[in-house]
Amino acid sequence: MPKAIVVRELGGADKLRYEDIPEPVPGPGEARVRHTAIGLNFVDVYIRTGLYKNPGLPFVPGQEGAGIVEAVGANVTEVKVGDRVAYAGVLGAYADVRTLPAARLLRLPDRIDDRTAAAMMLKGMTAEYLLRRCAKVQPGDAILVHAAAGGVGSLACQWARALGARVIGTAGGPDKVARALANGCSAVIDYQREDIVARVRELTDSKGVAVVFDSVGRTTFSASLDCLRPRGLLALFGQSSGTVPPVDLSLLGAKGSLYVTRPSLWHYIATRDELVESAAALFAVVASGEVRVEVGQTFALSDAAAAHEALEQRKTTGSTVLLP
Ligand SMILES: NC(=O)c1ccc[n+]([C@@H]2O[C@H](COP(=O)([O-])OP(=O)(O)OC[C@H]3O[C@@H](n4cnc5c(N)ncnc54)[C@H](OP(=O)(O)O)[C@@H]3O)[C@@H](O)[C@H]2O)c1
Repeated sequence: MPKAIVVRELGGADKLRYEDIPEPVPGPGEARVRHTAIGLNFVDVYIRTGLYKNPGLPFVPGQEGAGIVEAVGANVTEVKVGDRVAYAGVLGAYADVRTLPAARLLRLPDRIDDRTAAAMMLKGMTAEYLLRRCAKVQPGDAILVHAAAGGVGSLACQWARALGARVIGTAGGPDKVARALANGCSAVIDYQREDIVARVRELTDSKGVAVVFDSVGRTTFSASLDCLRPRGLLALFGQSSGTVPPVDLSLLGAKGSLYVTRPSLWHYIATRDELVESAAALFAVVASGEVRVEVGQTFALSDAAAAHEALEQRKTTGSTVLLP
């Protein structure tokens, strides 16, 4: 019988239970995928705790995976049995096997192995839309990326550098600072002991940066605004340290006619065309070697609770993959 992680009650990592599930049968437009690797993302924590909406209890968490198409329902044109595929953004990934809409699946190029795919689809397409479509980063732009040794951060820094940006990163502790430098940052601020704003001003001749990519939220938001040049953009795309309290919008004027956006991947890969284009751009930068995907750690699927604890306690680097 297949197994999955099931959440029957919202709360801590201990609510992730490893249980038997019935063999899923694909309906019209759906495919059944046997996972070979599953991606861990901070959004899985938000959904487990109840910060983000869930589809109703019980549910199988997880939004990213890679594997083989085992069966297809009626009217499926995007994939066929035997295809090696990956996806991001469809809840229910923490399982040996699952069904999902075939229109959300992407066939994997031969050069991208399954673990790499599970490590990069959600985080890599996030880097893609943030840099290329949300902030439209230009060659020569100075940008600031928080949590630059983390999953999204590692990929975004490398990709931004490939676009010609000058990337300043932040990271917690010397080991993560070294990793962020290896991700293409020209300078990395250890925000556990250095003042972010003072260092960014120093590194930019007091000008500030064109864009801040902030996924840390509560503890960095205010510094992020103060790091921007006039008319700069703050893309607040997560809150790993906690939710940002309401902001007085007149602050944006006082601090230099700033822009703030709170983007979400789902709105940038909403159509099949957007999904395919975002994934193609990601496959291209990974195949060319411009962006290297680091699987920093793996856990057995049955050990998903330990993986969540490591992520929440800031003990992970790069991407984390769960193995069924
Ligand atoms: N909006 C979107 O479209 C979108 C899509 C994907 C991901 N995201 C967001 O992007 C962020 C990164 O996701 P990820 O899966 O790649 O995780 P991650 O960056 O690998 O892990 C989170 C990192 O945040 C840093 N952090 C700072 N303060 C923290 C705290 N109090 N608790 C925990 N971590 C803290 C830690 O790095 P240091 O130790 O270096 O501080 C930690 O390793 C998350 O906020 C996620 O929700 C948003």
